[in-house]
Amino acid sequence: MSLTIHPFFEPASGSYSFVVANPESSTCAVIDPALGIAEDGETLNTDTADLIVDWVQAHGFVVRWILETHVHADRPSAAGYLKGKFICAQTAIGAHTPDVSGYDVLLKEGDKICLAHTCGRVMETPGHTPGCISYRFDNAVFVGDTLFMPDSGTARCDFPGGNAATLYASIQKILSLPGQTRLYVCHDYGRTVDGGCRRNRFVTTVAEEQQQNIHVGRHACVEEFVRLRTARDATLKAPRWSAVSIPANLACMAPAAIDGLLTESRHGSH
Ligand SMILES: [Fe+2]
Repeated sequence: MSLTIHPFFEPASGSYSFVVANPESSTCAVIDPALGIAEDGETLNTDTADLIVDWVQAHGFVVRWILETHVHADRPSAAGYLKGKFICAQTAIGAHTPDVSGYDVLLKEGDKICLAHTCGRVMETPGHTPGCISYRFDNAVFVGDTLFMPDSGTARCDFPGGNAATLYASIQKILSLPGQTRLYVCHDYGRTVDGGCRRNRFVTTVAEEQQQNIHVGRHACVEEFVRLRTARDATLKAPRWSAVSIPANLACMAPAAIDGLLTESRHGSH
């Protein structure tokens, strides 16, 4: 196995996207590509997605897959945009995502994601949303919003179909992997839940999460987790761009269509 992993950061939403590349076959997969929305809500940008396009073209790779871990509520996906750039790629998302449309492939537990002869596997990891999946390539797992950095805990479970006990079970599934397994997260905001600042991070390990995760580390039991998660979720507001991001990402929209939703949402809010 000789896959390489390359992170790309979208600053407006604190999102990480990744390219998983197989240099032997010059093929790669893009995971959770993000579009940006300016603070004033006026403009959508493809800046981070374009960095991915530039990187792929500079290295002469063919994109085989554009993969989503779930329907992101906080920012629009660049999957539709990248599909227009990489016509050989297949877009994919979890099969248990309610009301999903527009993706080429709907993925289930154990499905293979192949980059020539090197294949990853889908792990179903619901809880944050019912359709959440993770992608395991050897000793690297892309966990989406299932887990965050140990000092940031876990993702909210109060979106439709979310469930804290289900998320706990999914996290245990991930934490049952070997301790040195690397976990690549989808978000990091450079701060801890109690407001401390630190440098952004995008990768941790199973062992580090087991020992230090503030929500599920040190053998926190399911009851304790559900209590903590539910109390925290009750304090959270809806993500700022959810009215645009959720319909856009359910339908794998291209930027022109997302721009239309953004305009509608601005008019609707006046
Ligand atoms: Fe999410």
